[in-house]
Amino acid sequence: MEEKSLFCGNNHPKDPSNMTDSEKKHMPVIDCPNEVKGGVPFIVKIKVGEIPHVMEVAHHIQWIDIYSSENFNARIDLTPEVTKPEVSVTLQKSGKHRKATLRVIERCNLHGQWEAIKEIVVNE
Ligand SMILES: [Fe+2]
Repeated sequence: MEEKSLFCGNNHPKDPSNMTDSEKKHMPVIDCPNEVKGGVPFIVKIKVGEIPHVMEVAHHIQWIDIYSSENFNARIDLTPEVTKPEVSVTLQKSGKHRKATLRVIERCNLHGQWEAIKEIVVNE
């Protein structure tokens, strides 16, 4: 089978239970409560990745996007050398959906886009 380009769509680990070092360096790690209350702000911490990714001019994380399902929530642009790919964002969810699918996508200038997903419950 032909190898898919890293720059074709969002990348995911081939085997999430046995990630390669490259996958561990690129998969966003999402840290937030599993359950939140509708209308009450909560903090989502994101880092790239489980093994820290370098932030050199020639090789770095360019941005981190946060979506709720298909809806854009936030983008953080990063500058190499002076930032780490670790961010915190305050979100707030409406209780009427009962659950939210947080999707975090980051882009490495050499290794493409990587997506992590976390489902959270939203209580009224
Ligand atoms: Fe990379």
